[in-house]
Amino acid sequence: MAPSSLHIDVHPDYETLSHAAAEQVSAGIRTVLADQDEAAVALAGGSTPRRLYELLGEANVPWDRVHLFWGDERFVPHDHPRSNVRMVRETLLAEAEVPSSHVHSMPTDGAPGNAAARYEETLRHHLGNREHTFDLVLLGLGDDGHTASLFPEALPFPDDNAWVRAVTAPDRHDIARRLTCTLRAFNQARRAYFLVSGESKQDAVRRVLDAEDSTLPATHIRPREHLVWLLDTAARPDAS
Ligand code: 6PG
Repeated sequence: MAPSSLHIDVHPDYETLSHAAAEQVSAGIRTVLADQDEAAVALAGGSTPRRLYELLGEANVPWDRVHLFWGDERFVPHDHPRSNVRMVRETLLAEAEVPSSHVHSMPTDGAPGNAAARYEETLRHHLGNREHTFDLVLLGLGDDGHTASLFPEALPFPDDNAWVRAVTAPDRHDIARRLTCTLRAFNQARRAYFLVSGESKQDAVRRVLDAEDSTLPATHIRPREHLVWLLDTAARPDAS
């Protein structure tokens, strides 16, 4: 089922892309808070959103009304250089006053399967009684068309009600053990924003946006209301 709207924004470079994304995401949060008390935001991992998170930390957002979740995590300690939590702590959380009780990082201790079950409980506790999961989901795109830790090799995804799964990334990725929110969790969200930068993503972007290639997990992201792609010209050179 397609979302009610698809919006594609292309910007000259990574810096202007990050500023535009910060404006759109902070505006999206404020829109959500106009008609509900709190907003649930799932954060993307990887390196692309780093500048966005720095800018969001300085943005006009009532952070005391926002709950932060993660769309995926590498199964490493939270102080590990490759941890998605660490990256957010160094950027958004270094500036924004988000109550610690509103920061819901994915556990990376014990067994991955058990950690996934614990995070599932966290999501069900905070989001289970709503008609949707997250209000906003931020996502990146791998050059192989993965998003979060939903990899092409894992398609077709299990058709169950799980919102979180422990997975193993293909060998080309440096951290094998991961936790990821599932397609179901993402697609029960109200809106999703892809943030994509760099020439290496061109092919994957074309396959998702132009060919709607169903062999790529990113193609399957269909939030309920709005799907926004924010790219730079390096990732989307032939934008009309
Ligand atoms: C992760 C991310 C992953 C990321 C893409 C793009 O934990 O790695 O969730 O899906 O968004 O791999 O990564 P870059 O932004 O570093 O290119």
